Formats: sequence, structure tokens, C-alpha cells
Amino acid sequence: MTEKPTEINNIPQHVAIIMDGNGRWAKKRKMPRVAGHRAGVESVRRIVKACGESGVKVLTLFAFSSENWKRPEQEVGLLMDLFMTVLNREAKKLNKNNVQLRVVGDISAFSAKLQGRIADAVALTKNNDGVILNIAANYGGHWDIMNATKKIAEKVHAGELAIDDITETVMDQYMSFPDLPELDLFIRTGGEVRVSNFLLWQLAYTELYFSDALWPDFDEEEFNKALLSFSQRQRRFGKTGEQIEEKAGA
Ligand code: IPE
Ligand code: IPE
Ligand code: MG
Repeated sequence: MTEKPTEINNIPQHVAIIMDGNGRWAKKRKMPRVAGHRAGVESVRRIVKACGESGVKVLTLFAFSSENWKRPEQEVGLLMDLFMTVLNREAKKLNKNNVQLRVVGDISAFSAKLQGRIADAVALTKNNDGVILNIAANYGGHWDIMNATKKIAEKVHAGELAIDDITETVMDQYMSFPDLPELDLFIRTGGEVRVSNFLLWQLAYTELYFSDALWPDFDEEEFNKALLSFSQRQRRFGKTGEQIEEKAGA
């Protein structure tokens, strides 16, 4: 087991990662883009393990965005094949490691076969109480908010909810993963400094961390740098630094 750096005293409960840079990793090696995606799967494995070791409870990973359908058909097809292969190969291992797999996003757009595999893997691991690996697939932050809005509108339409009762807490309940802890740390690898329609609602007070490492190169050392950066921040949630220090000292 790898020791976590001693300076890290507050570990985020919930980390979300935009796993970016697979294509550029492959291009640097004159390999096809899909080789970068395959190498990226190794990083997923490493980071899930690192979460378990450092005490991170939930890891949300952006695997495929609602905009990624715009990629060349061949790449989209290869990504779908890769999901299938990874699910087939990894579900039992995840289960053995006590990982609970979840999938968020509009998976109805995937093939029936892939949807079936997702359902099987989710069912297999649903009682595990180790790390929760929450995969965002065909996910978009706009989609998530729109979906919540539609469900709330249906409740209002059916007379089950009054407009005045729509609070932020109610909105939370209709978003993709209401039961998971709030998002503490957002990481984007690959050097781009943007959110790319990931968790828009949930990111309100999340600490942001951007790494230049391409996702297939993102290892435990890089992950620990992000954890260290998080542990050195003062989260004020609108209050003053003095208020936060007072509370910590109390
Ligand atoms: C992220 O890596 C993986 C997915 C979007 C599925 P990219 O494929 O976007 O890699 P770059 O940004 O082209 O390097
Ligand atoms: C975001 O990466 C989506 C995933 C990592 C799955 P992209 O590479 O698609 O993001 P943009 O389009 O460059 O912003
Ligand atoms: Mg990219």
C-alpha cells in the first residue's frame, strides 16, 4: 500500500475528474487515438485504487460527454466497444475490490447490449461499501439540469408539488446523484482550463484543480498533488476567513 503524503490532513469525500488528453497522448506516440483511450483505462484503475488508499469515498469520472457524439463515427464506435470490453473485463474485479459501480447520464442512447452490461455490472456491485465509482456516460451538465427540471415540472403538473416549494434542496433531489456527498474536488487533466458541460449544478462550491498531465500519464503521484492542493485551501462558502478559523479553533 502506498503511503499518502503526511501533509494531507483533510481528504475530499467526493472527487470528480475530466479525464482529458488521451488523444494527444496517442498522437505524441504516433499511435491511433483509441490507443490513448485504452491507456486511459489503466489510469482509471490506478486512481480508483488510490482513492481507496487515501480515503476518498466517491470518484466521479467523465467517460463520455453528451457532445462526444460529434466525434468521427469510427472513434465513437471504438469508444463504445471499449466500454463494453472494460465492463466485461473489470466488473468482477471491481466487485472483488468492494467497489460500487454507478453510471449517470442518458444511457438510453447506448445500444441495448451495452445498456444490459451496464445494468449487470451495477447490479453485481450494488451492495459493496468501498469506493463508489460513479461513471458519467453520455452525461452533460445541461442535460442533468434539464432532466431535473422536466421531472419537477411533471410533479407540478400532477399537482404533487407547488411552485413555491421548489427550493435548491428539491432541485438537488432531482439531479443525477442526490444521495452522494457534495462534490469537494474537481480535477481536469490534459491542460485545458474549462468545464466542458460536466457537473454544472454540482460544481457550485467545488474546489477546482487543473493538471497538465495527459490522462494516461496521470498517476498516483499526480493525484496526490491534487489532494495536497485541496488540503491547503480554505473553503469559505461565502464567509470570511476569520469566521472559518474561529470555527476550526472552537
Ligand atoms: C478524453 O480524451 C477522453 C474522451 C473524451 C472520451 P480526449 O480523447 O479528449 O483526448 P484529447 O483531448 O484529444 O487529447
Ligand atoms: C470532456 O473532454 C469529456 C470527457 C473527458 C469525457 P473533451 O475532450 O470532449 O472536451 P472539449 O470538447 O475539449 O472541451
Ligand atoms: Mg479532449
